[in-house]
Amino acid sequence: HGPPAPSSLSWSFAGPFGKFDQGQLQRGYKVYKDVCASCHSMNLLHYRNLADPGGPGFSIAQAEALASEIQVKDGPNDAGDMFERPGRLADRLPAPFPNENAARAANGGAAPPDLSLMAKARGYERGFPQFIFDAFTQFQEKGPNYIYALLTGFKDEPPKGFALPEGSFYNQYFPGHAIKMPNPLSDDQVTYDDGTPQKVDQYAKDVSAFLMWAAEPKLEERKRIGLQVMIFMLVFAGLLYFTKKAVWADAH
Ligand code: HEM
Repeated sequence: HGPPAPSSLSWSFAGPFGKFDQGQLQRGYKVYKDVCASCHSMNLLHYRNLADPGGPGFSIAQAEALASEIQVKDGPNDAGDMFERPGRLADRLPAPFPNENAARAANGGAAPPDLSLMAKARGYERGFPQFIFDAFTQFQEKGPNYIYALLTGFKDEPPKGFALPEGSFYNQYFPGHAIKMPNPLSDDQVTYDDGTPQKVDQYAKDVSAFLMWAAEPKLEERKRIGLQVMIFMLVFAGLLYFTKKAVWADAH
């Protein structure tokens, strides 16, 4: 049998009216940048996305400022030289390692996976009909529920009798329990300037929400359009009902 199923958290983006909590996404970005980004890339994310509608709600100027914090290799210039320049909106978030081999070498043989789509709802491996059932429950929140569980599921000591391989860490929720990622979060590690508690639990929630947005940037738009479609269908069903009555009024 596998690891315990992660418990379901109550996310602001859950349900048909769910929306991302912009403050939470901004904090989550900070956790990603200050902690996760030292090992994980997010190749599909560009700085301009940080100002996209339905996202963390940074202004263009704020996203530009965040981009300018990094140095990007560019060139060759007119003189034929490579050079470094501050990041721009069009740049991707930087990758911590030049390639997969370097990433493996620095992490005991396991390359930290790109986190861009990490929060995509998984669970198809559960098979039919379980995944159909999931679709009507909290299927969509499985990704962030797992990431939160993983980040809060480290144990300093493996249970008695568990042989932890050298260079691995014990995690309750990781399949097989031996993960090559060291426990990345500790209290007060990331400074929040909105008064939110600087606790592992909070960091884990915020970064999971941020990764959910990165993986599902159209979530809010999709839910809004879905709702409009449902309203349209209701009105249309009513119209059809009265049309049918009128058309068949004389039928005997
Ligand atoms: C794997 C998230 C920080 C190194 C993973 C996985 C996730 C994740 C979701 C995939 C687990 C799976 O396959 O089921 C995060 C987040 C971080 C963070 C959200 C920040 C809060 C770090 C840091 C390091 C690191 C700082 C390096 C010191 C790794 C490695 C793996 C991994 C090596 C592959 C583990 C294996 O396959 O055994 N991380 N991570 N991570 N992470 Fe992180």
